[in-house]
Amino acid sequence: MTKQKETVQALQWTGETLKVLDQRLLPETIVYNDYKDATEVANAITSMRVRGAPAIGIAAAYGVVLSVRKHYAQSNHWRQKVIADIELLAKSRPTAVNLFWALDQMKATLSQQSTNPLAAILMCAEKIHAEDIAANHKMGELGADLLAGTKGVLTHCNTGALATGGYGTALGVIRSSYRRHAIDVYAGETRPWLQGARLTAWELAQENIPVTLIADSAAAWLMKTGAIDWVVVGADRITANGDVANKIGTYGLAVLAKQHDVRFMVVAPTTTIDWGINQGDQIKIEERHPHELLLDCYRDEDSYVTAWNPVFDVTPVELISAIVTERGVVLNPATGQGVRGLK
Ligand code: MRU
Repeated sequence: MTKQKETVQALQWTGETLKVLDQRLLPETIVYNDYKDATEVANAITSMRVRGAPAIGIAAAYGVVLSVRKHYAQSNHWRQKVIADIELLAKSRPTAVNLFWALDQMKATLSQQSTNPLAAILMCAEKIHAEDIAANHKMGELGADLLAGTKGVLTHCNTGALATGGYGTALGVIRSSYRRHAIDVYAGETRPWLQGARLTAWELAQENIPVTLIADSAAAWLMKTGAIDWVVVGADRITANGDVANKIGTYGLAVLAKQHDVRFMVVAPTTTIDWGINQGDQIKIEERHPHELLLDCYRDEDSYVTAWNPVFDVTPVELISAIVTERGVVLNPATGQGVRGLK
């Protein structure tokens, strides 16, 4: 068997620090920063140096490792200090449930340790990281099965190696599918942060997979031409009934897909499922600063022009043709029990 080419790594544990690729600077500049404590990791998540639901969870897990390393040696009250760091990390971004899932795993491991917790805590973070990569490869194959015979796909945001432990969710499916047969890959720019134009286009080009970029507003017209059979996206949180929170614009694509008889695939590991929430209206949707959207000339406090900047939306389960996880595929999740069967 030929070894698969490694994808870019957004996160690397060095043994002492967490190396984080600064995704704000891509694709022009490749810079890794070394983080030595949980506060720095929380800042890296909030400022989107690291982004994408699974990658955020993995970074936070290593943030807890850094916290234990720092406080265990220095203080008798190390446990309270680590818990405070976990609370800080939990405030870094609100929508992707992988963050809270990973922190819960770390907390549970911590609570089981009565002596030096470092080895167990590190092992837990590395397991979260490794299992995410494995899940992505599994989903890649399952999703590629669904794309058999497909001519073209449209994806949104960045769901690749940069957004995960490696390989990617929706972009992993596109990678796996492209290995089986050439497909036309379209990527939406994904305003305002341009994850599609800057990150997805870059990742695919690195692997010699041709990609056609479209303005987000060109999606309806693209579907009208008949160029795509599927929209393939990731998720930041999936509720038990199968509603999906993902990058702003996803909901619009799902509505357009229905109108044009294009199928709609969501690809996410089960760590993205929030079993405790029944439906999408219970998900907290992050709103980021208007300045991420506003032209410089409108940024004065007394400007008449402001901006509303929700960065996720919720796609109702009725609009989804398939949810692909590492535990299996749920076809037409609205007609059954959502994703509950995967638990
Ligand atoms: O704001 P971001 O860049 O963190 O948003 C990322 C997304 O919405 C992705 O589509 C989602 O996290 C799935 S990534 C595998």
